[in-house]
Amino acid sequence: MEKKLLHGGDYNPEQWLDRPDILEKDLAYMKEAGVNAVTLGVFSWSVYEPEEGVYDFSWLDTIMDRLYDNGISVILATPSGARPAWMDLKYPEVLRVNEYGLRNTHGVRHNHCMSSPVYREKVRIMDEMLAKRYANHPALILWHISNELGGQCFCPLCTKRFRQFLKKRYGTIDNLNHEWWTTFWSHRFTDFDQIDPPSKRGESSIHGLNLDWKRFTTWNMNDYMTWEIQALKKWTPNIPVTTNFMRLYRGLDYHKMAPALDIISWDSYPAWGNPGETLTDTCFKTAFEHGVMRSMKPDRPFLLMESVPSIVNWHPSNRLKRPGVHELTSMQAVACGSDSVLYFQWRKSRGSFEQYHGAVIDHLGTNDTRVFKEVAHLGQTLKDISYVQGSIAKNPAAIIFDWDNRWAIDDMAGLSDLKNYDETVQGIHKVLLEHGIDADLIPGDGDFENYKAVIAPMLYMLKPYTAKKLEQFVKNGGILLATYLTGYVNENTLCWLGGFPGDGLTDVFGMYTEEIDSLYAQERNGLAFTDSLAPVKDFAIRDFCEIIKTKSAQVMAVYTRDFYAGTPVLTKNNYGQGQAWYLGARADEDAMAVILKTICETAGISWEELPKGLEIHRRYKEGTCYTFYLNTTQEPLSYKDISLKPLETKIFYCSQSEQ
Ligand code: GLA
Ligand code: ZN
Repeated sequence: MEKKLLHGGDYNPEQWLDRPDILEKDLAYMKEAGVNAVTLGVFSWSVYEPEEGVYDFSWLDTIMDRLYDNGISVILATPSGARPAWMDLKYPEVLRVNEYGLRNTHGVRHNHCMSSPVYREKVRIMDEMLAKRYANHPALILWHISNELGGQCFCPLCTKRFRQFLKKRYGTIDNLNHEWWTTFWSHRFTDFDQIDPPSKRGESSIHGLNLDWKRFTTWNMNDYMTWEIQALKKWTPNIPVTTNFMRLYRGLDYHKMAPALDIISWDSYPAWGNPGETLTDTCFKTAFEHGVMRSMKPDRPFLLMESVPSIVNWHPSNRLKRPGVHELTSMQAVACGSDSVLYFQWRKSRGSFEQYHGAVIDHLGTNDTRVFKEVAHLGQTLKDISYVQGSIAKNPAAIIFDWDNRWAIDDMAGLSDLKNYDETVQGIHKVLLEHGIDADLIPGDGDFENYKAVIAPMLYMLKPYTAKKLEQFVKNGGILLATYLTGYVNENTLCWLGGFPGDGLTDVFGMYTEEIDSLYAQERNGLAFTDSLAPVKDFAIRDFCEIIKTKSAQVMAVYTRDFYAGTPVLTKNNYGQGQAWYLGARADEDAMAVILKTICETAGISWEELPKGLEIHRRYKEGTCYTFYLNTTQEPLSYKDISLKPLETKIFYCSQSEQ
């Protein structure tokens, strides 16, 4: 990859081949806007192969050459996100079957079966043609696999592969019956062929089945994606590959897909300016999403593959980005570890579904627009700060954010509807970020060793591997905080026996949970810290209150109400060289701040009292630390001797040892 921060985005010249004047203008405007990279070919299959076996890449040849001559690099997509009509008509097996058993007809996009041998073969032929043709093209810097992979298919081919997947996972049907606890409701199977994917018209009450279907869907998607990667790598082993992830999409475990990719990239479309939250809060949520992406490959930058300089066409109301917001939010991406700011899209389509989706060039067709000028300004800024390219974050704290756990909590039947796993993790991330700590977000099977403090919120699904790693982490001096709902089930959703948190962690935490009380939304209990932690008593807690029995742990806070008033809600246990803290209830941000501050300070992580709306992120490279200060408010803001105008970002650098 080149040593520049990429600026540009999806470019669809194939929609304008009859307008050479427009294509000409595109190049001139791109240069003016500081565009140095575009993504081509995301949905170009019907233009590449208008009839089966009839190919036309001549237009792409010309565009690639011209872009290169103008200093613009190309991210080339494989066009497998949508298929030409001839393929669907001739080979219906390429189309998905929905959970009611009905096969789709041709249309929209992303509706193909990832198992179909016909589809895979067609994709392989196309990918190899592209890779062979452009292997030595100097503009090509990155492959973009398909587009926003997602969805599921219930066709006979997928069902068969699902059964094979289960067989491989469980070995015997008896083992599956045990792990899925199928004796309950007389659900026992005697053969893998009796098992169908979960669906609304059939089985949906076996947690193990529901979870394994999601795991299978991820596995199958990954297998498909790897198929595409292999086709490309055959001809271009040195061109890196990525695929654009969709925020925190629930349908695929991105942590399982990351290893097959060289670079993580994602598409970010927050509802900037929505009246339900402040800009600062939208920024916090976005920083969380950037953090999830960054943490998948902490040793290298990620890419912001899509964003929009103005509006999308799918928010309930598509508010314009207020002046200055585009620069702020783009700088936030870079601050969080992105080496790019890319857009969907360069030029608005004239027709069809996304004709009102924002772009750098509007239907007006000129550079004389607010949006264009803001994009061009950002282009210059990115050029000016290209020295941060290649730098990476090194954060001392991590929060566990795990897809399997999300799925298990989603599917958990009972306790409370107020599950809010994502919001809880995000809330903890926010409190840390408000105090200058940009925590990584890692899966339960991630590496904990590099962190001083690890927070495991609602780690309902506790896998033996994770339990062991957590135990080792604390033993070796780490500071761990877990919360209510931790360690209830194993990797197949069987409850741990002998006390939660299961699998031996009751010793690490020196406590166990005897009962859990779920409050109605309007109800609150209270939390009172012991004197050493905070003078204020009675912080509000909500939703979940566990009744805790201590073994060796010290009580750090107690409930203030109900029949369990005075019993422990927060405990601390010294274990090995470290400490394991357990919070048994859902605390609001003020109480979380007290707890997190204590934990961070104990772990030797500096905790800063920042003015509201200031975000700080750090990136490191070759002994230098780049510190980004972002003012996410419309008011001027100052901190220490740094003054920031509304929405302004400043970068300071110093040698790493000074940090
Ligand atoms: C996604 C897709 C793009 C486009 C945008 C619209 O990110 O990848 O093709 O549809 O959404 O916001
Ligand atoms: Zn299928």
